[in-house]
Amino acid sequence: MGVAIKSFEGKVAVVTGAASGIGAGLAEAFASEGCAVALADIDEEGVDATKTRLRSLGASAESVVCDVTDPGQVESMADTVESTLGPVDIACNNAGVAIYGPVVDMSLADWRFVMDVNFWGVVHGVRTFAPRLVARGSGHILNTASMAGLIGMTGLGLYNASKFAVVGLSEALAREVAPFGVGVSVLCPMMVETQINVNSMRSWARATGRPEPETPDPGTDTPSPSQMMRGGFVDVPTVTERTLAAMRAGDLYVLTHAEQREILARRAARLDAAAP
Ligand SMILES: NC(=O)c1ccc[n+]([C@@H]2O[C@H](COP(=O)([O-])OP(=O)(O)OC[C@H]3O[C@@H](n4cnc5c(N)ncnc54)[C@H](O)[C@@H]3O)[C@@H](O)[C@H]2O)c1
Repeated sequence: MGVAIKSFEGKVAVVTGAASGIGAGLAEAFASEGCAVALADIDEEGVDATKTRLRSLGASAESVVCDVTDPGQVESMADTVESTLGPVDIACNNAGVAIYGPVVDMSLADWRFVMDVNFWGVVHGVRTFAPRLVARGSGHILNTASMAGLIGMTGLGLYNASKFAVVGLSEALAREVAPFGVGVSVLCPMMVETQINVNSMRSWARATGRPEPETPDPGTDTPSPSQMMRGGFVDVPTVTERTLAAMRAGDLYVLTHAEQREILARRAARLDAAAP
């Protein structure tokens, strides 16, 4: 059990990747609990739409265009948020991308694209916010990893590498900052109904200069993530409800699917069998 959040009321939360999917859902969940929310994303139109929606629900919400791959932009986003909404209590490093395919087919540009967002984006968020929370002696960091950060899967090697790194970083950070009153949780969902495939393929084409490929789709030659993970989809509200409950309980891991229990038990059994 780590450091728990007793109440969300009156807190300031920052969410990266808040234009869409899980990030937009987390922002809405924090707002509905009484947080002021700062929404950060590279997608200006999308993040403004989230802001408009949350404000129409009566929330205090600000949007900031921020590319999490750039440490300077993350640092100045934090300064902007703190000058408009006040000191940040909850920092969610959630922005992420996914590309699928065998490790041997991945170019260096592919590796850099995914690691820049999924790994370095989280590092920049942690380096920006963790010292501020530690200095104030309270707060919470939520990093979005994935079930792909807990088990390797065929066709997801690059994404696995980026998400395992986020889980490892979160586990270590949780131990280090708990004595300073700061909590850490790592969100590890299986499949969630979002636009991650479409959004990722667009920005992958932009980042690597490659033509935008067909989005992976169940039934095509490219295995869909659900085929790789053999699990069903859950909706965003299910994920955000579990996440806030975990933060309230001071839990490090946030899991979202019942199927995870059996898959992770098999992994634990394989490790157990390998130990001398
Ligand atoms: N959808 C799933 O099935 C699933 C499962 C496990 C983990 N995740 C993780 O959840 C997180 C959110 O993904 P989602 O499913 O909501 O996808 P999404 O595509 O709906 O949302 C991701 C958001 O991140 C933003 N983003 C991408 N690159 C960025 C950058 N460089 N700087 C700032 N923002 C950037 C996108 O513009 C988008 O708004 C990701 O880290 C993803 O890896 C998703």
